[in-house]
Amino acid sequence: MYDWLNALPKAELHLHLEGSLEPELLFALAERNKIALPWGDVDSLRGAYAFNNLQEFLDLYYQGADVLRSEQDFYDLTWAYLLKCKQQNVIHTEPFFDPQTHTDRGIPFEVVLRGIQQALDDGHKQLGISHGLILSFLRHLPEEAAFKTLEQAMPFRDAFVAVGLDSSEMGFPPRLFQRVFAKARSEGLLTVAHAGEEGPPEYIWEALDLLKIERIDHGVRAMEDERLMQRIIDEQIPLTVCPLSNTKLRVFDDMRQHNILQMLERGVKVTVNSDDPAYFGGYVTENFAALHDSLGMTQDQARRLAQNSLDARLVK
Ligand code: ADE
Ligand code: ZN
Repeated sequence: MYDWLNALPKAELHLHLEGSLEPELLFALAERNKIALPWGDVDSLRGAYAFNNLQEFLDLYYQGADVLRSEQDFYDLTWAYLLKCKQQNVIHTEPFFDPQTHTDRGIPFEVVLRGIQQALDDGHKQLGISHGLILSFLRHLPEEAAFKTLEQAMPFRDAFVAVGLDSSEMGFPPRLFQRVFAKARSEGLLTVAHAGEEGPPEYIWEALDLLKIERIDHGVRAMEDERLMQRIIDEQIPLTVCPLSNTKLRVFDDMRQHNILQMLERGVKVTVNSDDPAYFGGYVTENFAALHDSLGMTQDQARRLAQNSLDARLVK
């Protein structure tokens, strides 16, 4: 079944480039940039990948991202991810990057963007993988900081298809970012947002009504609100679901409790994605395989999930 799932043509719509930083590359970049790490070796770093919630993961994820310093580092990170896409027949990807994670450390915006963009362009030319890049704002920082980031991005407006919203969800509702999302839309950018990962259904309502998002990132808590479910089904609003992430971050204690197939059967446009594959134990095929192994996902269901990912692309 793994090989069959791997061969399915698919799009990945929820992937943080910084979350694809494998420990081996993290150590190589630390050496290249002469950065001392708190972990002795790759295995002890991997051993630290045990999380009880989103915040525990984010603390390590931001720490890991500190090894990314030069344009070449961002190129290497993105290229390694694209090679994985090629192996897993991901024919289109719409990755996120978090500029503030880097600009707040003194790395210029254009250094980050140029490295990512060059790799994405090479991925298109050399690997045949199409893309649409999403600039994500960190929601634990003030909206003013997001405005500043949007301003820095505007000279490179054509490099992006959308803006997104990620980082710590609880206590940082979408409504806090209403004005900066309106500004992004006025520049012709589309919008997406993480909502209903740890946060309540109200956050999904706000993301839809106030941020006017095209897709909901995660959204698994939508099932707690029947009126919200009806809207998502009626309007065919895509959900970018990340099963291994949800179990690693204890949104569900066990994959057998995951609701993605229930939502699929109710007519929700759900898709399968890897979120932060270096930290959560697998890329998109491993996420599909987990649904087969734990939930008995059939080939027909897998085909529909893969088709949903192609239908839900922002860039067609
Ligand atoms: N940043 C990287 N991965 C994330 C996730 N799963 N939720 C929120 N912010 C993130
Ligand atoms: Zn995410």
